[in-house]
This record gives sequence, structure tokens and C-alpha cells, in this order.
Amino acid sequence: MKKIYEGIFKEGNQIFTLNLVEGIRVYNEKILKKSGKEYRSWNPYRSKMAGAILKGAEAPIKKDSRILYLGVANGTTASHFSDIALNGMIYGVEISFRAMKDFIKLCKKRYNLIPIIADANKPEMYEAIVENVDLIYQDISQRNQVQIFLKNMEKFEPKNGIAMIKARSIDVAKKPNEVFKEVEKKIEERYKIRKVIKLSPYAKDHIAIFV
Ligand SMILES: C[S@@+](CC[C@H](N)C(=O)[O-])C[C@H]1O[C@@H](n2cnc3c(N)ncnc32)[C@H](O)[C@@H]1O
Repeated sequence: MKKIYEGIFKEGNQIFTLNLVEGIRVYNEKILKKSGKEYRSWNPYRSKMAGAILKGAEAPIKKDSRILYLGVANGTTASHFSDIALNGMIYGVEISFRAMKDFIKLCKKRYNLIPIIADANKPEMYEAIVENVDLIYQDISQRNQVQIFLKNMEKFEPKNGIAMIKARSIDVAKKPNEVFKEVEKKIEERYKIRKVIKLSPYAKDHIAIFV
């Protein structure tokens, strides 16, 4: 098992995080025990961040990171952030009650996850709860996903932002590359883009934008 970034490990072509809650799986992921430690495999087909890391991205997450996660769903990716940011906090915003029900169950087992049921279009709904975030991670497949990302970036002013962009949610009629160009231009007007990663074959017609 080779450490590739803080809290992230690689063996063969798979990446892993150290399980914060030993013996408990989150999404039926593979568990590996080595030298008294328990690692959870991070599935790139279930988590776009894992796909981005396998395609060369560095996760800007540290032990004490404070993360605002927009579109946390049932917490698949957030559970790996929770493994890494042991002394940090992950605020998970989700609009669907159904997904939030599962995420709340996960929050009960993991001390560094906070559930927020809200619309990410309205950051003023959660600004009183969310404090000093270092990173905004967004995975919301809505037509206005770029506006949501920029609105939250402007409100919370984190050092880093990651937006997972799904072309077909923005415009089905346009070619994905055309959509990506427009998205990058819009984000670039306000932030410096550090890296853009195509997420195929893990997620079709998606890119990850790191700012
Ligand atoms: C692709 S899924 C997220 C998967 C998750 N990020 C993961 O990797 O485990 C997108 C989520 O965004 C949520 N969502 C959509 N619009 C939203 C909004 N305006 N505010 C908050 N969440 C929203 C959806 O309900 C859905 O759960």
C-alpha cells in the first residue's frame, strides 16, 4: 500500500482511504486489512473524485480541512472525505429528503460530517452554520450548476473549489466539448482554473474543474 496524498493510498490500480469507523462499510466497498490498519477502496465509478484522482488530480484535502459539499447525496464520496479530514469538518448540503435520510444515518457514525438539508441555490440558508471552509466540492447535475458553484464560492470564499460538470445536464443539444468550453470561460472570469480533468471512462461526458 503506497501513500499517494495525505490520507489516500494506492495499491495496483485501486485507491483507498483509511477507514475512520473500523468494520463498517458505507456502500459495500471492498475493505482491505494491512499491518493492523483497515482501508476502504474508493470506487471511481461511484465517486467522481476517485476518478479524478486516478486520472492525475491531487485532492486538496488535508487532515484538518473544512469542506462545503454541495450535492452530498447519500454520502458515498463524503465518506472518503471524512476518512481523510480526521480533524476537519464536512458540511453536506442536499436537497433530496430521500438521499438526506441515508446521509443522516452516516453522520451519526462519523463525527466530522454535518447534514444540511437545503437548496444549494440559496447559500444564505446555511451561511450561519458553515464556517471557514477551505474547499467547496460540488457535484450537482443541474442546468445552472455553474451559477450554483460561483454563488457559493463568492459567499464562502474558500481557497479551493472543485466542480464536477455534467455536460448533458447543462445542454443536451450541444456537444459536450462546446459546453465545457463555455463553462470554463464562465468560471475563468472569476477564478483561476488550476486543472481540468476528463472523467471518462469513469463518468461519461463529465469534467472536473479545479480552481
Ligand atoms: C450526482 S448526485 C451526487 C453524488 C455524490 N456527490 C457522491 O459522489 O456521492 C447529485 C446530487 O445533487 C442533489 N441536488 C440537485 N440539486 C440540488 C440543489 N439545488 N441543492 C442541493 N442538492 C442538489 C441531488 O439530489 C443529488 O443527490
